[in-house]
Amino acid sequence: MTIRKLTDSVFNVGVIDWSRQLFDELIPLPDGTSYNAYIVVGSDKTALIDTSDPAKPEEFRRGLEGLPVKKVDYIIANHAEQDHSGLLPMALQKYSGAKIVTNEKCKEILLEHLPLETDDFIVVSDGETLSLGNKTLQFFLAPWVHWPETMFTFLKEDRILFPCDFLGSHYATAEAFSDDSQRVYRAAKRYYAEIMMPFRSFVKKHLEKVRMLNPTLICPSHGPAYKNPGFILSAYESWVSDSVEPRVVIPYVSMHGSTEAIVDYLVNAFTQKSLDVIPLNMTVKDLGELAIEIVDASTLLFGVPTMLLGPQPQMLYTMALINALKPKTKYLSLVNSYGWGTKVTEAAKATLSNLKAEWVDTIAIKGYPKAKDFEALDRLAGLIVEKNHV
Ligand code: FEO
Repeated sequence: MTIRKLTDSVFNVGVIDWSRQLFDELIPLPDGTSYNAYIVVGSDKTALIDTSDPAKPEEFRRGLEGLPVKKVDYIIANHAEQDHSGLLPMALQKYSGAKIVTNEKCKEILLEHLPLETDDFIVVSDGETLSLGNKTLQFFLAPWVHWPETMFTFLKEDRILFPCDFLGSHYATAEAFSDDSQRVYRAAKRYYAEIMMPFRSFVKKHLEKVRMLNPTLICPSHGPAYKNPGFILSAYESWVSDSVEPRVVIPYVSMHGSTEAIVDYLVNAFTQKSLDVIPLNMTVKDLGELAIEIVDASTLLFGVPTMLLGPQPQMLYTMALINALKPKTKYLSLVNSYGWGTKVTEAAKATLSNLKAEWVDTIAIKGYPKAKDFEALDRLAGLIVEKNHV
């Protein structure tokens, strides 16, 4: 239990999960995570904003018991996903008479997932306020960052924003505030890539709203709070912008060395032409490392071996994941190694159908690459360099 004081009336009582390694049984967490829950103490009433992951009830209970305030009147639910709502029943039991404050959509989802009753709720609409005495909470609906019911809570007098998942990071730290280091930046970028990137147009819209609110402090539900909101807002604005960095990311797998030889050759070709290139061997890189790199790279080039005429399954999975994340990539390409027959290019194009990118060219190479294949790779590298105007 680590209570982190943010101001005289705002405390983070959430749980730090130092050793969690996987989220949604999919996303690797190299830096652990936290499930932040905030107490806002007003002159008349006290509010708890979100709860914690249902796997951590005792840690959460100890946090609440360490507080000077013993009564909570309102429990704000900004988001129905379990890592923030899973301990709502426990919090209601602890604070008898408290009400859950949320929007209609969130209430509907919470009632489907948790043992709660409709009378447990106060429903609020966009812009509505709730008085705690000398403090006022205002609620803003913020759908699709990243569920349909997501909502922000704003403490008006202090201009503190509680945007739940939005602007967060899977980053376990006992520090209350971000030190705006490269480590925090990278954790936030990884979080954006994995959770928010598929909703880029909604993210853009909600960023404008946050800028308009001009918060002094941003307190997300994962990772440290931002005392300097410009740090995270500027980062997000660059990630969601339409501009890309001239960079080739090459996710690949090599079964017997041919694809690796092709990728090595291309890496050298791009390097010689001063185009930034990042090869990612998907048998050893985690999905988050790939997700970070595709946030703003101009070009994705897949290195794919053939298995039973289709893409090697790890690469098929990689392409399916990229298709779901919908990066703003502008150019796509593929080099395919095969033994006697292949339908890899057709499968790749079908798998990546969500991406609004231009296919530059694709090359299929039979066996280990030979002189004519290296010439074809040189032409492909030249085309990609030209597209990137390096
Ligand atoms: Fe951190 Fe969407 O839950």
